[in-house]
Amino acid sequence: MKYFESVKEYLEFRKTVTDKKIGLVPTMGNLHEGHISLAQRSMEDNDFTVVTIFVNPKQFGPNEDFARYPRTMQKDGDDLKALEMRVHKKDSTKEIILLAPQSINEIYPEGFSTSVKVNGLTDKLCGLNRPTHFEGVTTVVYRLFKIAQADRAYFGQKDYQQFKVIDRMVIDLEIPVEMHMCPIVRDQDGLALSSRNQYLTPPEREKALVLPRTLKALSFLIERNPWSQALEKVTKVRAEALRDSKWQYLQFLDADTLEEINDNTRTILIAGAYQARGARLIDNILVERNA
Ligand code: PAJ
Repeated sequence: MKYFESVKEYLEFRKTVTDKKIGLVPTMGNLHEGHISLAQRSMEDNDFTVVTIFVNPKQFGPNEDFARYPRTMQKDGDDLKALEMRVHKKDSTKEIILLAPQSINEIYPEGFSTSVKVNGLTDKLCGLNRPTHFEGVTTVVYRLFKIAQADRAYFGQKDYQQFKVIDRMVIDLEIPVEMHMCPIVRDQDGLALSSRNQYLTPPEREKALVLPRTLKALSFLIERNPWSQALEKVTKVRAEALRDSKWQYLQFLDADTLEEINDNTRTILIAGAYQARGARLIDNILVERNA
């Protein structure tokens, strides 16, 4: 595994790479099995996998957890080395490049004044409670794309709206990178893995299971009924669920457009955000529309 703390050093190295396929896995660190699954997938597809670790201040709101976001560089490095060793048992040519800029200046040099904003897709779902979040995400991901110069990039379905927003940016700005979405990795109890789960006390975590359980229940109804009948049932279950004021949203949308479901909708996105005391949790399920 190669390790770079400076963008300049990475760029020097990047110049020497000519005939290799490169996959990019952007993260904010505190890696868990969800992140590792993205890196593993990238290693299957590419020669080099660039994992970036950068806690991006621009995507946190003023009252959010930027200062206390968990930073666990040593363990993250160890986990990536362990992944690389596992992969080497099958193919020793694959390599991980860890790029972990140690200062905010590396990504946003003095005087940096540009931002990248995708309109429309960012107004709904998480954009309602986090109005500046996605602009911070697209700005940093644009920077990371330009720096890494990868052939492919890997993101989790866990942040489905994030994927769609970045994908839109890639199309609109004609960024030469192939976008890949990887499945949600969950704990045994069904809660999607997230660096923020550790903010929850055990009783809070138990209560937060209402998020994956409600999404699952709704997806069963959609899978097992023609949409016209499912609609009535899911509307009822949704209304019942929303009596718990901790839900920030619980929505069914057209998964391609994030617009309301219509006659052309093939895949339905069921997405929820739940504000537990210690952490705001998000989750989603994609389900094919039945007739
Ligand atoms: P972070 O929350 O660290 O997540 C990094 C990547 O891991 C994202 O693509 C996210 O969707 C994916 N991921 C997180 N939890 C997952 C899970 N349980 N299963 C599968 N994938 C999961 O998302 C960000 O960082 C940032 O916004 C970033 C894109 C790095 C820009 O700063």
